[in-house]
Amino acid sequence: MRLIFLGPPAAGKGTQANRVAEALGVPHISTGDMLRAHIASGTDLGREAASRMEAGELVPDALVIAVLAERIAREDAAVGFILDGFPRNLAQALALETSSVGTIDRVVLFIVDEDEIVRRIGGRRGCSRGHTYHLDDHPPSQPGVCDVDGEPLVQRPDDSEVVIRNRLNVYSRETEPLIDFYHDRGLVVEIQAFGPVQHITRQILDEVRA
Ligand code: AP5
Repeated sequence: MRLIFLGPPAAGKGTQANRVAEALGVPHISTGDMLRAHIASGTDLGREAASRMEAGELVPDALVIAVLAERIAREDAAVGFILDGFPRNLAQALALETSSVGTIDRVVLFIVDEDEIVRRIGGRRGCSRGHTYHLDDHPPSQPGVCDVDGEPLVQRPDDSEVVIRNRLNVYSRETEPLIDFYHDRGLVVEIQAFGPVQHITRQILDEVRA
């Protein structure tokens, strides 16, 4: 099963990708997480990506495509994958389509309104290993500490109110055109991404298995 999760910032793509990937036995491949790992390790690529990410701008296509190509070539992705955060513009979608990864089975489009996005981002906290919480909806057992690995929970630098406005603009300008691109290919399934996390997971699994 090869899936793309598409939707605005904080729509819940990462939360759902973790759960659906586990249910389907495929890897969850998040370009945002991979880029943040490069920043944390201080690689050249991380240094190049950091200022763009902090401003809410897209990282140059060539860098992201190289990171993705390396990840998708690993053995575990031979059974399928969930792409979370890729593609993000038409150039990336065309690069994926003309690559050797095989055909995409479904594009899961997350529908959430802007007020909910701002609320979700304001309450999001995460640890350096990628476990994510929400202060109101999904708080950790002990404030400020990850339940899974005991790491401190922090706010992402691109989750400030100013940067989120820019991320939403970038989404509507660069990424929204992909909705028509994948509609034309008959791949889009729409998910109303409100309400309990487990209900959304069930909806996605029902749609992609149909
Ligand atoms: P990336 O990390 O991909 O960020 P994003 O797409 O903006 O998405 P988010 O991670 O903010 O949100 P999400 O939809 O995963 O939501 P989550 O599950 O965390 O990209 C970051 C940056 O990297 C980009 O701006 C760009 O610079 C760069 N980049 C990445 N990929 C790139 C590419 N392909 N090309 C170029 N640049 C690229 O949930 C959000 C919050 O809501 C959490 O607190 C969660 O607990 C809560 N929540 C989730 N579901 C629910 C629910 N049902 N009800 C209530 N709360 C919920």
